[in-house]
Amino acid sequence: LGPAALAVADGRVLAYGPQAELRARCGEPRVVHDAGGRCVVPGWVDPHTHAVFGRTRQDEYERRLRGETYLQIAAAGGGIQSSVRDLRGRSDADLRDLAVARLREMLELGTTTVEIKSGYGLSYEDEARMLRIAATAAESVGLRAVRTCLAAHEVPPEYRDRRDAYVRLVCDEILPRIVGEGLADRLDVFCEPSVFDLEQTATILRRGLELGLRATVHADELEPFGGAALAARLGADSADHLIRIDEAGIAALAGASTVAVLLPGTVFSLGLRTYAPARAMIEAGVAVALATDFNPGSCPIASVPLIQAIACTQMRLTPAEALAACTVNAAWALGLQDEVGSLAPGRAADFLVLDVDDYRLVPYHAGRNPVREVWRDGRRLVPR
Ligand code: NIG
Ligand code: FE
Repeated sequence: LGPAALAVADGRVLAYGPQAELRARCGEPRVVHDAGGRCVVPGWVDPHTHAVFGRTRQDEYERRLRGETYLQIAAAGGGIQSSVRDLRGRSDADLRDLAVARLREMLELGTTTVEIKSGYGLSYEDEARMLRIAATAAESVGLRAVRTCLAAHEVPPEYRDRRDAYVRLVCDEILPRIVGEGLADRLDVFCEPSVFDLEQTATILRRGLELGLRATVHADELEPFGGAALAARLGADSADHLIRIDEAGIAALAGASTVAVLLPGTVFSLGLRTYAPARAMIEAGVAVALATDFNPGSCPIASVPLIQAIACTQMRLTPAEALAACTVNAAWALGLQDEVGSLAPGRAADFLVLDVDDYRLVPYHAGRNPVREVWRDGRRLVPR
């Protein structure tokens, strides 16, 4: 084939193929950037993060290492509630600075599109604040952002004994106001027996869809609960986590366009042993994507290359499946498949120059950053 080339014009992919063929098809380029025989891949699409938060929770990390579980710590007032208390007491400027630093690190690791959830506010004001900060922080770093309203991440303390009243608040006030102000593209619900049950999840998802949001669900993470099947039935773009998905859940996803977004960094960071049954899903014909789930509680990993490594050794994805799961399938999980996630003609010219000449070295060298250059819309963002 000879050396390969990627032709870019006006921030979009024009074509790719052997150099000689591209010159014949597209003419002599105005600028040539030599990648030196290294791999060029689409920028990573990270379709599940909680990247706006205040303090980190290494205290809980240590408690888990000593034997407490995620749910025990949450029941004792830690977990999501602890990040909610922290976020409510912080200034916008402080939260923005923290988010910018974290998103900058993601960009340097090759992420060009990131989904960012709210969910540590749990009131209209604080959820709106998180979504505004997500947008401005991503923009200042140069990341393409998808904002997801996760007001249904937990029931806030002031509604502890009135859980259904909180579901009504989300449906009648928080979501309509967030949509009215154009602050979110999607909505998400933490569907678990101890958080929002199937009926509450369905109520909230239907309301969001009716308001024009796209939908996703935190599903079947801690118990097989039917969250994935519900996501498929309601037409959600993705069902995420799925550690405990059962055969009916897999069949439901296989029969729908809902993407399975797997988050193996969470299992790894929580020190658990059971990963989502990725092979069974792939064999059943489910589209599998990967994400970091970057958050202060269950997964402080911001690195998509490291997630690929964990996915390969712990869930037996092949390096090619991991690459597809972090690019084209992840774009589908966000409904952005016509824009990002592949280098097909017409897509945004969001791509990486890796420092390796074989993409299998990305998961192989677990723990290192294989990204040499990051380009977004045909402009180089890394190195600056
Ligand atoms: O995806 N499962 C719920 N949400 C996060 C954890 C958030 C937190 O602990 O702060 C997750 O794992
Ligand atoms: Fe999550």
